[in-house]
Amino acid sequence: ARVVAVTGSASGIGAAVAAMLRARGDRVIGVDLKDAEVCADLSTAAGRAAAVAAVDDQAGGVLDGIVTCAGLSRAGAPQVSVNYFGTTELVLGLQPALAASSAGRVALVSSISSTQPHDAELVDLCVAGDEEAALARAEELVAGGRPHEIYSSTKAALNRWMRTVAVSSDFAGAGIPVNAIAPGVVLTPMTAELVSDPQWKAIMDRAVPMPLGGYAPPEAIASALLWLISPDNTHMAGQTVFVDGGAQVLTAPPSV
Ligand code: NAI
Repeated sequence: ARVVAVTGSASGIGAAVAAMLRARGDRVIGVDLKDAEVCADLSTAAGRAAAVAAVDDQAGGVLDGIVTCAGLSRAGAPQVSVNYFGTTELVLGLQPALAASSAGRVALVSSISSTQPHDAELVDLCVAGDEEAALARAEELVAGGRPHEIYSSTKAALNRWMRTVAVSSDFAGAGIPVNAIAPGVVLTPMTAELVSDPQWKAIMDRAVPMPLGGYAPPEAIASALLWLISPDNTHMAGQTVFVDGGAQVLTAPPSV
């Protein structure tokens, strides 16, 4: 049995990951605002530090995997703190525990939104690790009528950060694969309101067309995340894998 930390474990994709891990006998250390083994607010530096310490303690210093699902959409500037810093600081803070495992693995949850219009300045500030300036830039985007670019920017920043970390001595060098899944539209509390509103649904279906299978159940994303953190994954590094029913193929220009 493996010991796996799952952020955002109380709802949606994180809850599906936790349930599937537990069903196969693994031990889950869930991290969420409530209803979790570790209750912590990942939107603050203090909450993130407390979460790292509590996970490390509950894992006894040896962690086999971390899956970061905690995230916010349509919530303004705080998306920067939860989606980006709530992911990167947890992963970096738990690196020693992952390195102590014989098969430590990291899987992030990105989004198809990472390929959609985003703000280069906000992405740069996130990747530079400047949370205060990133929050200020996000507030500017809200004031400038571009609030939707905050979410896509946090996810684009995650992809870029992940590519660097994945090949670093602390991760690749320590035998720890780091990768991400980018979902299309997943049926969770995050999207429930959008898919039930015909106007939003039409906008979403244009932005994220999913010819294979339509909207995904959270388990479709969870099973891909589970493979990324399994010992079977020995040589995938720094990849963002789209589990999106074909949306990325239909909406992003081909890279080759
Ligand atoms: P959800 O809203 O069902 O679950 C998110 C979880 O994160 C909740 O349990 C929430 O309490 C937790 N969370 C939020 N703020 C937190 C904080 N400050 N501290 C600790 N925990 C916090 O959302 P869902 O759909 O399961 O999303 C999971 C991830 O998947 C997110 O990163 C989201 O951006 C991403 N995603 C979701 C898609 C969808 O269509 N649902 C599509 C693409 C990506």
